[in-house]
Amino acid sequence: METKTHCDWDSKTEEEKLAFVDEVIKDYNYNENNLIQILHMAQAAYGYLPVELQKHIAKKMKLPLAKVSGVVSFYALFSTEKKGEYVVKVCLGTACYVRGGKKIIARMKEILGIDVGETSEDGKYSLEITRCIGACGLAPAMAINDEVFMQVKVDKLLDILEDLE
Ligand code: FES
Repeated sequence: METKTHCDWDSKTEEEKLAFVDEVIKDYNYNENNLIQILHMAQAAYGYLPVELQKHIAKKMKLPLAKVSGVVSFYALFSTEKKGEYVVKVCLGTACYVRGGKKIIARMKEILGIDVGETSEDGKYSLEITRCIGACGLAPAMAINDEVFMQVKVDKLLDILEDLE
């Protein structure tokens, strides 16, 4: 199966995304045991798993909606809400926590005007907490989409965000 990147999906229509999800379900033989993989692929296409999409998947797989939404709500990596263009994940693993991760979170909340778990009104930023992103030696660390920032300084956060534009 062809691998899609985030950018590829941005240019696709709803119909194309739905057709892709249907194809994935078919490739996985409509099998309930493959539900997690199917949801992964659906989230890759849509960026999140809205209830309407969960209903569609449940119908196609002949499963009760409760089964699908149960899996979605059980796993933290699935999201039912649309994320921002930039997903800021501040690490609060042990090393980062000790070296100022909480201050980074506090400043990020101030700059973005949102709380952890929220997305800014303009749809630009989501703020999340994450556990160890493998940069403990250069803590505190955070990631914005796929880019990891290390030895992050609170007074440099604004510059980092401005450089994203
Ligand atoms: S604890 Fe933050 S990168 Fe490991």
